[in-house]
Amino acid sequence: MTNRMKLIWLTFITLSLPLLLTTASSTAQESSTAGELVQEEGWQLVRDNCTECHSSLIIVQNSGNREVWKSRIEWMQSSQGLGDLGPELEGSILDYLTSNYGQKTASRRQTLPTHLMPTTPNL
Ligand code: HEC
Repeated sequence: MTNRMKLIWLTFITLSLPLLLTTASSTAQESSTAGELVQEEGWQLVRDNCTECHSSLIIVQNSGNREVWKSRIEWMQSSQGLGDLGPELEGSILDYLTSNYGQKTASRRQTLPTHLMPTTPNL
């Protein structure tokens, strides 16, 4: 390599290094916030009692009404070794889960009315 080439390489690397570093750190930040519990009232109870065996991601990707959440807790208690939470703690956890991860209303759009459907060619 000529000295001129070396200089060009050095300049290139020096200039691109900060760019590479910022890209790397912003990616790390994104992945650490993924799956985080919504920080509303009671979230610490869920963090402290519900993330010992699995990540919070499994919680935030679920939704349901109070009965659904209660049945998930009962299922974990009867088959996965989750201990008794006591009525007060369980109630607060259910409050948090149902108000932040409640039953979703239909997430799909309505189907198109027939007259707006495209015609299927070649049929
Ligand atoms: C003693 C361990 C343990 C604790 C503590 C625990 N879980 Fe679980 N939970 C499990 C296991 C094991 C699974 C199944 C994981 C899998 O399928 O990979 C699970 C699955 C789940 C699921 C997915 C259920 C489904 O239908 O797919 C949800 C939601 C959940 N847990 C929520 C919670 C909540 C909320 C709490 C706190 C009240 C909690 N977990 C505490 C062990 C635990």
